[in-house]
Amino acid sequence: MEHTERFEASKSNEGRFRMLVDAVTDYAIYMLDPDGTITTWNPGARRFKGYEESEIIGDNFSRFYTEEDRKAGLPKRALEIAAHEGKFESEGWRVRKDGTQFWASVVIDPIRDDTGRLVGFAKITRDLTERRQTELALRESQEQFRLLVQGVTDYAIFLLSREGYVSSWNSGAQRIKGYTPEEIIGQHFSRFYTEHDQQARLPQQALEIGAREGRFEKEGWRVRKDGTQFFAHVVIDAIYNPDGSLLGFAKITRDITERMNAARALEDAREALLQSQKMEAIGHLTGGVAHDFNNLLMAIQGSLELLQRRLPGSDPKVAQLIDNALQGTRRGAALTQRMLAFARRQELRLASLDVRDVVQRMTSLLQSSLGPSVRVETHFPLELPKVTADANQLELALLNLAINGRDAMPKGGVVTVGAAERADVPGLKAGNYLCVSVTDTGTGMDEETLKRAMEPFFTTKGVGKGTGLGLPMVHGMAEQSGGQLLLKSKLGEGTVAELYLPVATGKTALPTQSTETRVLSLVNKKLAILTVDDDPLVALNTSALLEELGHTVYSAPSASLALDILRREKKIDLMITDQLMPDMTGSELATRIRIENAHLPIILATGYAELAPGEGEGLPRLAKPFGQRELAEAIARAVGR
Ligand SMILES: Nc1ncnc2c1ncn2[C@@H]1O[C@H](COP(=O)(O)OP(=O)(O)OP(=O)(O)O)[C@@H](O)[C@H]1O
Ligand SMILES: [Mg+2]
Repeated sequence: MEHTERFEASKSNEGRFRMLVDAVTDYAIYMLDPDGTITTWNPGARRFKGYEESEIIGDNFSRFYTEEDRKAGLPKRALEIAAHEGKFESEGWRVRKDGTQFWASVVIDPIRDDTGRLVGFAKITRDLTERRQTELALRESQEQFRLLVQGVTDYAIFLLSREGYVSSWNSGAQRIKGYTPEEIIGQHFSRFYTEHDQQARLPQQALEIGAREGRFEKEGWRVRKDGTQFFAHVVIDAIYNPDGSLLGFAKITRDITERMNAARALEDAREALLQSQKMEAIGHLTGGVAHDFNNLLMAIQGSLELLQRRLPGSDPKVAQLIDNALQGTRRGAALTQRMLAFARRQELRLASLDVRDVVQRMTSLLQSSLGPSVRVETHFPLELPKVTADANQLELALLNLAINGRDAMPKGGVVTVGAAERADVPGLKAGNYLCVSVTDTGTGMDEETLKRAMEPFFTTKGVGKGTGLGLPMVHGMAEQSGGQLLLKSKLGEGTVAELYLPVATGKTALPTQSTETRVLSLVNKKLAILTVDDDPLVALNTSALLEELGHTVYSAPSASLALDILRREKKIDLMITDQLMPDMTGSELATRIRIENAHLPIILATGYAELAPGEGEGLPRLAKPFGQRELAEAIARAVGR
């Protein structure tokens, strides 16, 4: 029935409009008479206002307004405006039948008859609640986003125009770069780059790459407002308009100075570790070689000394040759000493020393070694604590350092020896140290030389001039004494060598080494001496030297055989034993002998510090390699006790 009615209606023009309006469900389309009474209603109106046609026709449209808007006379004013201006358009809250509200977009058009008389209004309303909610949500999220960006303090986040002018600035940017938004917005971002980078057009290149590839990322030095620099990680992202054209750039900068410093420190530490491992390895090698070398030298030196004395008649030429050879062995011995020192394997006679005394005693030696063009100065404070060190080794070290100074001053200059007390030196055990410094006014060292200066056999002095063992010796001696050697130098600015030695504490109860030269009255008594050494070459040599001195020699190739001989030969006056032997060490042998014979003088011959702490304590020592004189002195000391 209804169907046919519609169909009939559709035949007329009016009927077709009616059908159209009735089909629309997204818009409320209805008519009002001139004072706002509702005269028609469509399905769209029913859908989002909730009223049936029968309920609402005849009511005033003002019922769709909120209480507030009604009181404010809004409905009436809307009609007036529509009548007066030909159209009324607005958005606002409207009320549904169930009392809930929706956000409506409203258009009211006046309807006039042919004579122009107002006969009513056409009203079209759309429910925009959803759109409005998305808009609100969008605005809110934008605001939240702005607050977020603004609140970030670890990253500088800001926008640049296409040309690179700053257009926004967050608090991270202010914190990292130092500018307030007022100071920087509108300025070109190239001012964050160093002068050098600006000249190299890095800022422009960054934007060009950003524009071309959509993104640019790099690390580099940037400049703060106060001129200081920081190491930055920078990302530049291109931002596009909806139509795809370039709008500008988002720039995110992070201060990674700390991270970089940490990475650098790690790298340095790794390198230092590598260096110390290398030194350790070279030390082992050097120490081993030097030890064997020492024995060889001893044999050569001893044999030469004997040969020298036994040579019949005196051909001055032969005597000269032997002399040369002997000098060579002495130089060789000095060299192996340095190698042992570097390998921290020399035997240190630690004592409480006054560095001032040590330097005083060697001033004339220093001055004559350095020559007339070098002035030697000393600067010591009045109060100077004593240090724990080996006096001879300390002398040797200072001489080495001073000669290095001289070599760096071909035109002459000043070598200054000084000392100052320091507490808790980085890299050393906690405690007090004396820093003994040797300063020169010479050429200084470049970085590469400075880095390698303490390596054994590193020298810049040319073949035959330097051994490259001077500083390694000092370094080894310092470390073995519980201190260290530090070099400070710049090319053209001279060099300071700082030798740190531990301040002597009362507890260590070290003997204060007497400064008087040890004048020993050599014993003239002929003795029966037992020598123990597993190296036949050394044994042979020692025996020959002793026999030359007029003693009777018994020789044992091992500790156990030595014990046999001692039991057999009651008349033995003295024993000289090597320390390192396969079956028993020299000090162990001494301990065994002491059980039966408390008074037999025993001398321990050692090539280097091969004694564990406490081992062989109280036994007189004889350092290898030794010549006849050292041997005679050691015997005199041992017997004289
Ligand atoms: N005071 C200094 N001024 C400038 N360069 C120095 C100084 N001290 C050391 N060097 C550099 O360090 C290198 C190593 O020094 P080191 O004392 O170990 O050996 P050397 O002096 O070359 O040889 P040697 O000490 O055996 O005569 C030197 O060759 C020199 O290049
Ligand atoms: Mg040197």
